Amino acid sequence: MRTAKIKDLLKTTPANQHVTVQGWVKTFRNNQFISMNDGSTINNLQAVVELGKFDEATLKRITTGACLAVTGELIPSPAKGQTVEVKVESIEIYGDSDPESFPLQPKKHSLEFLREIAHLRVRTNTFSAVFRVRHNMAFAVHKFFNDRGFFYIHTPIITGSDAEGAGDMFRVTTLDMEKPPRTEEGKINYKEDFFGREANLTVSGQLEGETFAMGLGDIYTFGPTFRAENSNTSRHLAEFWMIEPEMAFYDINDNMQLAQDFIQYLCKYALDNCQEDLEFLDKRAKEEEAAKPQDQRSELGLIERLKFVVENDFQRLTYTEAIDILRESTPNKKKKFQYLINEWGADLQSEHERFLVEKHFKKPVILYNYPAAIKSFYMRQNEDGKTVAAMDVLFPGIGEIIGGSQREERYDRLINRVKELGISEETIWWYLELRKFGTAPHAGFGLGFERLIQFVTGMTNIRDVIAYPRYPGSAEF
Ligand code: 4AD
Ligand code: MG
Repeated sequence: MRTAKIKDLLKTTPANQHVTVQGWVKTFRNNQFISMNDGSTINNLQAVVELGKFDEATLKRITTGACLAVTGELIPSPAKGQTVEVKVESIEIYGDSDPESFPLQPKKHSLEFLREIAHLRVRTNTFSAVFRVRHNMAFAVHKFFNDRGFFYIHTPIITGSDAEGAGDMFRVTTLDMEKPPRTEEGKINYKEDFFGREANLTVSGQLEGETFAMGLGDIYTFGPTFRAENSNTSRHLAEFWMIEPEMAFYDINDNMQLAQDFIQYLCKYALDNCQEDLEFLDKRAKEEEAAKPQDQRSELGLIERLKFVVENDFQRLTYTEAIDILRESTPNKKKKFQYLINEWGADLQSEHERFLVEKHFKKPVILYNYPAAIKSFYMRQNEDGKTVAAMDVLFPGIGEIIGGSQREERYDRLINRVKELGISEETIWWYLELRKFGTAPHAGFGLGFERLIQFVTGMTNIRDVIAYPRYPGSAEF
């Protein structure tokens, strides 16, 4: 039953061609014009039903949301905005859709409402466009790295280590938590659990990725990661996908360059390969912008923003330079960023990041050399004794899109830091061994895939760029 995809048909010059097209009804006007879509493109195909040719009962079943196949001749379309249409000779209805109860009416629904029907929202223009772009971006990630000789490593999803040392992990257990086995001290005894120890869902594949970079040279991971942080924001998910390249013999500068090349490649790939979807999303983002107060509107449209990123170097500056700029700045006329004035060492808040990116430099920013105290244990210590070779890539409208660093490859330095922070050596003995046997300078970073998709599609809430978003209180689908 292989039939033509609407995407291909819309590009054909018709010549005595009989086609069968299968898809879902968007609208049915005047008992005559079926607008249908099969997911292959943002554009609908018009199928024209000759008046009087089909009985009332059949026509009644052609409703928004119904699934059907039409067979007929592909002819040039007299209607404007489309080149071809199908002159329907037969119709087979696969699935009715009661217009009274079908939640997707042919009108604009709010994104909040659509989140409640995540099993149906992919049938809307907006979500079908987002998920076609998401697919293209995943494909481009692999193409970018493959073309550069990187190897794709599948790091484990269940792990015993806490890569970020942040402790916000989901526990994996088979114990009966109503009556868990206890140690003599009364603690839950994970020795009796499936893995014989505590196990969690991974927060990052980095540590395992590093072990492979120390054998294969350049590697990357691309998989789901999990964080049990209770953050109800438009940029956080409890389950998100992360791409983590890790490169032997890279320093922090090489790392920053790769991060820029990577994002520019992905944005260019979208511009070159997702043109129609981006045009649709651009229009929709502009409508959203227009509803905002003048001073909160972004100057560039979606496609202009993507082009800007592709064509301009990211601004690189150290944390210390950023603090100096922030101290001198008056974000809202009179007030300064008060609390930063005497506080070298504080973590930047999103308002500071936004100021640097959106107001001061007006371009993506890479901040590097952060205070050691606010960054992870594995980052390489700089000679100043205060900072580490960390880097964050900050994007307009998104904030942090990438986090990474050069890694501490010197055993003595690393073990001191691990001890200082009270990290359990038992759980990362294998990671420490990398520094005992043939250690090498190396670096890497993590790109939050959904934050990238937000930037490329212009969707403002991260819950709208992943099929089934996981956040506090949501695990329905
Ligand atoms: O900055 P993070 O925590 O860095 C790491 O996990 C490192 N191990 C990466 C590495 O060096 N290999 O996370 C990296 C990126 C962030 O910049 C952000 O884009 C995304 O992952 N991210 C999230 N995305 C959605 N929801 C969350 N809760 C996220 N937490 C981080
Ligand atoms: Mg980070």
